[in-house]
Amino acid sequence: MQELEWWQKAVFYQIYPHSFADGNGDGIGDFYGMIDRLDYLQELGVGALWLSPHYPSPFFDCGYDVADYTGVAPEHGTLDDFKRFLNEAHQRGIRVILDLVLNHTSDQHPWFIESRSSRDNPKRDWYVWRDGKGGGPPNNWYSGFGGPAWEYDPATGQYYYHYFFKQQPDLNWRNPEVKQAMWDAVRFWLDLGVDGFRLDAVNTIFEDPALPDHAAEMSLPELYHQALQAASSEAGQAQLVRQTEVMFQYQREQPGMHELMQELRTVVDEYPDRMLVGETGEIAYYGDGTNELHLAFNFPLMKTTRITPTWVRANQQERLSALPPGAWPCNTLGNHDSPRVYSRYGDGQNDDALARLHLALMLTLRGTPFLYNGEEIGMTDLPLEDISQFRDNLGVWVYHTVVNELGMPPADALAYANYLGRDKCRTPMQWANAPNGGFSPAGVRTWLPVNPNDAQSVNVAEQLDDPDSLLSFYRRMLRVRKQNPALIAGDYTVLHEEAEDYLTFLRGSVADPSTGPSAGSGHASGQAGQTCLVVLNMSDQAHTLNFDLDAHTAELVFSSHARGGDSDDLSQLTLAPFEIYIGEIKRKT
Ligand code: GLC
Repeated sequence: MQELEWWQKAVFYQIYPHSFADGNGDGIGDFYGMIDRLDYLQELGVGALWLSPHYPSPFFDCGYDVADYTGVAPEHGTLDDFKRFLNEAHQRGIRVILDLVLNHTSDQHPWFIESRSSRDNPKRDWYVWRDGKGGGPPNNWYSGFGGPAWEYDPATGQYYYHYFFKQQPDLNWRNPEVKQAMWDAVRFWLDLGVDGFRLDAVNTIFEDPALPDHAAEMSLPELYHQALQAASSEAGQAQLVRQTEVMFQYQREQPGMHELMQELRTVVDEYPDRMLVGETGEIAYYGDGTNELHLAFNFPLMKTTRITPTWVRANQQERLSALPPGAWPCNTLGNHDSPRVYSRYGDGQNDDALARLHLALMLTLRGTPFLYNGEEIGMTDLPLEDISQFRDNLGVWVYHTVVNELGMPPADALAYANYLGRDKCRTPMQWANAPNGGFSPAGVRTWLPVNPNDAQSVNVAEQLDDPDSLLSFYRRMLRVRKQNPALIAGDYTVLHEEAEDYLTFLRGSVADPSTGPSAGSGHASGQAGQTCLVVLNMSDQAHTLNFDLDAHTAELVFSSHARGGDSDDLSQLTLAPFEIYIGEIKRKT
């Protein structure tokens, strides 16, 4: 029987350090605050934390521009504070993984400062420097964040390459010294006891060294403009994806990536029990299932505005069948780069019920779930009211570009900057219905504004006291997952493959649902006997379902609605609108 690893069993919770908990009252989150909230996280039931970057950073890309890979940002505390945090988390049985930004550093990193100082500096080749061509940059590549990908540096008369902002020069990963320096940083944290890493932007690490021009037929601002027009059309979106692929063809997913990931895996495997999860939806990063990343996010599942049963079934069928043997799935619906789950997948009428269904989906699909801080209280996107409030320079760039280059009226440009920018999902955690949402003391200006809906019960303190709140629901569902091994380890078998309103599947050992589990038999996924039926009614209609499992009944494990009795007839299971139902399948006696 295969024993599952901790990162296969745990529910991960992403902390965005600037916005999670402000322990010293300066308007910015920090390790003192995080330490204070560890009990909260333990009671929530999460088993692992992913910290977005906590390193010293000029914060041009909100922390994803690292100026010291082995330090702690002074606004978050000291290295000793970090150690205390790690230790306290471990004492509560919570693992901690860090964000590792490999593609680029900050332009304020000492490595880059040295590199740009002269053409013969020993660190010159740590970054991607090239001569210009015909009085301009080396080629026509764009930065994924807008503008050209090359920045001219007058001091040495060459251009450097940056896939993201010019404040984030790309490292030259073909230089063995770069690898060595970065693996040293990795070992530094692993030596301290960190449990693994989330790898930032892995697909942009290498570029085509021949630097061929891209052949896209439009400029990047035009592409952005088209994105706006195509926002609600699937065909438009698909066309956009194709254009983007052409535009960035030589800057993403280049040869060498998998060898590099294998090398990093070898470093991490020097330490017992550590893991890597990549910011990529590409299954290729699992390697052969044992030699690259432990997890790659199921990003395709997120790429819709409505989570429907049909969408989920198609996604699962494709994803699970594509995984190499031994590879473990990983599901998420939100992070610091995407709109809030509650806003993105809500319908404006049944948002609370849908938020519950989406959590149930994350916790019952096969694979490791990743949650994003604040989703447990239903935090929503906060569109900013003025461009001066923006901290995400992507939003700022979008705003100025569409105003200046496309002549968009400022009010529309603001809406567009809110749409593409990421501040809206990074606002401070709402701990209470109090000044500053209880994040910072009254009168302090928080680094991003607090969403005023803390006053409408979107806050931790009030929801903790309310058994019907979303937060109480999260806590209950996480417990249910922990107490029912089939929900963690069981195989996934889809039922009712055509149903449009509801999603039904088994988690457990049942190869053939019509024969059902044989009591007490072990199975490949490691849990003797337990099989759970999961039913997610994603519609506002009641339904009565027949499961064709005649010899069996279902013992109630969990329902979001009041149900009469503990045991349910599987030939006639009635579901309320939006009901979440989990039952353990038992042979009739
Ligand atoms: C990743 C991060 C994102 C950041 C980008 C550049 O996509 O998730 O927040 O802006 O990398 O580092």
